[in-house]
Amino acid sequence: MEEMRIRDEVFQKVKQLYSLRKKNDFVPGETYIQYGGTIYDEKEICRLVDSALEMRLAAGRFARQLEKKFAAFLGVKYCSLTNSGSSANLLALSALTSPKLGDARLKPGAEVISVAAGFPTTVGPIIQNRLIPVFVDVELGTYNIQVEKLEAAVSEKTGAIFLAHTLGNPFNLKKVQEFTEEYGLWLIEDNCDALGSKYEGRYTGSFGQLATSSFYPPHHMTMGEGGAVFTNELRLKRLVESFRDWGRDCWCQPGTDNSCGKRFELQLGKLPSGYDHKYTYSHIGYNLKLTEMQAAVGLEQLKKLPAFIEARKRNFNRLYAGLKKYKAYFILPKVEAEAEPSWFAFLLTVRENAGFTRNELVRYLEKHKIATRMLFAGNLTKHPCFEGVDYRICGGLKNTDLILENSFFIGVYPGINKAMTDYIIETFDRFFQEKLPQAELVLA
Ligand SMILES: Cc1ncc(COP(=O)(O)O)c(C=O)c1O
Repeated sequence: MEEMRIRDEVFQKVKQLYSLRKKNDFVPGETYIQYGGTIYDEKEICRLVDSALEMRLAAGRFARQLEKKFAAFLGVKYCSLTNSGSSANLLALSALTSPKLGDARLKPGAEVISVAAGFPTTVGPIIQNRLIPVFVDVELGTYNIQVEKLEAAVSEKTGAIFLAHTLGNPFNLKKVQEFTEEYGLWLIEDNCDALGSKYEGRYTGSFGQLATSSFYPPHHMTMGEGGAVFTNELRLKRLVESFRDWGRDCWCQPGTDNSCGKRFELQLGKLPSGYDHKYTYSHIGYNLKLTEMQAAVGLEQLKKLPAFIEARKRNFNRLYAGLKKYKAYFILPKVEAEAEPSWFAFLLTVRENAGFTRNELVRYLEKHKIATRMLFAGNLTKHPCFEGVDYRICGGLKNTDLILENSFFIGVYPGINKAMTDYIIETFDRFFQEKLPQAELVLA
């Protein structure tokens, strides 16, 4: 009883502290408009304190609940939580290299088709697993793979396609899936920037044999750091968790023993017969588990996710409505007919001969307190990390190079309100008045 009373008191204090800190005064031109950030209230803090009060540190009850809830949200069977989206990508691809998959495994030297215009850790796991990335150019507008070039990219070494839904905009899943089915390839969806996006009415992240999420703060929901791998196949879930949990063969949850019923009855590798399955390793693994504190925050964030998704769509639509008059100067975002994006950001490409450069506009926006970002690496192959890396480019990367020079994005996250999108649009208007007073506007 005494313990309950003290706990309640702690939670009351936490709520008080939160309401003291809460401030959302926006002063145009003074308040920096971030492109992303953590949106939370006292519930996240209370959950976090709750797990701290019980000293639940390693993943446990909250993590298991969250895995079930995530899987149900996306409409897939299994979710395995991990400590970041990058780890999720590494685990998804590493799982496919497992000897347990027999001939279907990705063997060293196998090729994986991807794009160079994106985040480095979509591609990193390909190289880390001694596989060869094959880069195909992207379309301008959707910033997703040019599906018509897939046929030219495939070789007898191709084993998988690993692609992100760029900034929440679903790639052409229909064509990509037809292709992977025809050639018997694995498909991994990097869904890190696209939680809540749909394609033909179904959530992205439920199409590939494996898909990933990131919960780093600018993403659709956050746990500070965090990630997840999704799959419908029990064998893949087990492989993902083996690589995540030190490479172990055993799939017992923490605190449980003998789930397989054969703990002391197996003979694997060159081990003596009956060696404890709990300490038998079938992969050269990692430890990429998340903590219970992260899962605690995730449980509260997941409740807010539908509202977050709506806010992102609303902000995107407001920006689109206000900026489409400049379509002679920018390539505006485009969406596949079957896609319904849950946007990560609002990406623009300055057209060649626009009369100003991307860098001039970005500097202007930043000077007026509007955060901008590039499309991550732009062209990954041009980064220092690619020196000495074995890769193949199929058909040139003309658009990827244009993105490197001319594209940037601004935020649509739920921390941006109507006053902020109005201010962003006014700032673009002022830029055009100052820089190009004769700008031709498309007002239709
Ligand atoms: C498409 C994509 N994949 C993977 C990641 C990596 O996620 P994390 O930062 O959680 O490692 C990011 C990061 O923002 C991303 O944008």
